[in-house]
Formats: sequence, C-alpha cells, structure tokens
Amino acid sequence: MNILVAKTPADAEQIAYTLIKERLAGKREFVLGLATGSTPVGMYKMFKQDQLDCRHVTSVNLDEYIGLAPSHPQSYYHFMEERLFNDVPFKESHLPRGDAKDPDAEAERYEQLVRSIGVDLQLLGIGENGHIAFNEPGTALDAKTHVTALTESTREANRRFFNASEEVPTHAITMGLDTIMNAREIVLVATGDRKANAVHHMIESVPSVDWPATILQAHPSVTIVLDTEAASQCAQALQARGSEAAARFFSIRS
Ligand code: GLP
Repeated sequence: MNILVAKTPADAEQIAYTLIKERLAGKREFVLGLATGSTPVGMYKMFKQDQLDCRHVTSVNLDEYIGLAPSHPQSYYHFMEERLFNDVPFKESHLPRGDAKDPDAEAERYEQLVRSIGVDLQLLGIGENGHIAFNEPGTALDAKTHVTALTESTREANRRFFNASEEVPTHAITMGLDTIMNAREIVLVATGDRKANAVHHMIESVPSVDWPATILQAHPSVTIVLDTEAASQCAQALQARGSEAAARFFSIRS
C-alpha cells in the first residue's frame, strides 16, 4: 500500500484527482471505476473545472440502491449524472440497474460486464464500518457482484441524503470484493475523523471479513490518500514504516 497523507480534505482530493488525470493522459482507451458518497464530490468538481477530456474513458460505478429508479434523486445513477456526467462527456458509463425486476440476474449481468471490459483504475471511498462499495462486514473476501442487505450503521450514515429514515433503501447491488480486487490499480480516498477507525483497521488489521477494506492490503497497486484526521489513528504505524512513509506526510500546497 502506498499511503499519502495530506493536510486537508481538499489537498487529499487534489492529490487523488491529479493521480487519476495522469493515468488518463495519453491513453486511447481507459476504463475508470467510479464511486459515490460525499468523498469523491470534490474530485468530480475538479474534472468539471478542468474540462478534463474523458471522451475516451468508459466508466463503471461500484454500486446502486435496489428499488430506486435511475430518475430517483438519491439513486447513484442520478448522483453521477448531476455530479459528473452532465458536464463531462464519457465514452460510455455503466451502473447496475437498481430497478431491475430480478436484482440477482442484474448483479450477474453487471459482474460479466465489468469482467469483460476490465477496470484500469478503481476509485474508492470507505464506510465508517470499513465497507468498500457496499461490501459490508461479513462479506466473503471472494464475493463477486451481488445483492446485499445494508447494515443499520450504513443506512444511518447515508440517512443524511434522504428525507426520512424509512426512505433509505435496505438493499443494494454492489461489485464484490473480488470484482474490485480485479482492477489493475486502486485509489482509495478517506477524509475526516469519522473515517479514522476504519482507516486504522484497513492499514493495520490482519485481513478479515470483519473489516472488508483490509483485503486491499493484498492488492499489488493501491494508493490510499488520507487527510490528517483520517490518518490520526495510524500515525504510529506510518512512522514505523520508516522515513519513506514519514516523507509522505505532506501538503501539496507546502
Ligand atoms: C456508501 C458507498 C461507498 C462509499 C461510502 C462512504 O456506502 N456505497 O462507496 O465509500 O458510502 O461515503 P462517504 O464518502 O459519503 O463517506
């Protein structure tokens, strides 16, 4: 794991955005895995401000709520249109269909699609309970794209986007941990102190289903971009990695 710690959330977003931009540059074709949640919002603004050319880029999103049609204001489809796709044209964009009649069949279709096109770089956030995409604690480490029940803590964390608790969906279709691990490169961004415990486990705990993000320790090309608050419970571990890691405590503005 390559771990970068920026001073502020904005600096962390800028670092991750710059990394993605560098990877896209000069490529004729690129498959970019995208995420939702509040963490990538600042990065998507940077795509827009920069007028980043994504006409050669195919995007695949991690997950979608079951029961929400693409037009629903809280669907991830709608989120992506509003935050990115309406302003930055992509070659093609894919998300699972949350309103599919047979969600299991939709999960299978999406798994085949993602496998067949192959993800060059997957952007990730992390949930407070250590989930990535919607792979909640207890998910098998070799899970493919599947239908999952959301934990109460995840529903509560996402409650802020809905008018009432009852409106927060109970299930989602999500790329599995194995699907995500198949990406050639992974960039995970976490900011704020509410992520500090999950980040601590992701970096320092033995990989297990209790903290799904721990599986990333086994990926050959992962960059974790944190701000100082998200990194606050792993300062000792980062220092123990020696001067190389210490040198990575930086702000892009300094
Ligand atoms: C949801 C998404 C995840 C995301 C997580 C954290 O559960 N399915 O992909 O990483 O929220 O969201 P936020 O960035 O808002 O903290």
